[in-house]
Amino acid sequence: MLKETRTTRLVKSQDLNHHGTLFAGRIAEWFTETCFLAAVRYFGKAEDLVCVKIHGLTFMKPAHPGDAIELVAIPARTGRKSLTIAGEVYTNDDTSPSARGFATFVSVDAEGKPYAHGLSLPADWIEAHRELCEEAERIQAQGR
Ligand SMILES: CC(C)(COP(=O)(O)OP(=O)(O)OC[C@H]1O[C@@H](n2cnc3c(N)ncnc32)[C@H](O)[C@@H]1OP(=O)(O)O)[C@@H](O)C(=O)NCCC(=O)NCCS
Repeated sequence: MLKETRTTRLVKSQDLNHHGTLFAGRIAEWFTETCFLAAVRYFGKAEDLVCVKIHGLTFMKPAHPGDAIELVAIPARTGRKSLTIAGEVYTNDDTSPSARGFATFVSVDAEGKPYAHGLSLPADWIEAHRELCEEAERIQAQGR
């Protein structure tokens, strides 16, 4: 199904780094999980998806204990055997993201061999999410 996937997390003491702000590794985990959920929602078969790359995950603003972290993920590119998800992270009611990046998944059979998934994003979806879709094309074109 083509729609945004959203997850919300509370920043707790066990999520902090030595500065007392949200640890990058924890955001990376939440980011990857939300992107995976978005990929499964679109593709439909969790057992046939593996993550091959997390691209350009960038942290722009720190988050603090008690903050609510909302992660938003959308399908942004389909290849023949791959699917790239764009993810953005928002803190509390901020309107600009505190972190963002992309995650690419590959459709694999029971032996882990990639196969063509047959997915193709509709033109109206690409138009509605043009910036993220174009960025996904650019980063995938940069190669492995
Ligand atoms: C994912 C995996 C099956 C790809 O194997 P591969 O031999 O590179 O497969 P292929 O060459 O057929 O490529 C399959 C797709 O992956 C894409 N791909 C492969 N490596 C990539 C990389 N580093 N970055 C982005 N895309 C990549 C290819 O472009 C291709 O997509 P396309 O058909 O849409 O163009 C293999 O690398 C693997 O098993 N990795 C481990 C996955 C894993 O354990 N993830 C963590 C747990 S989910």
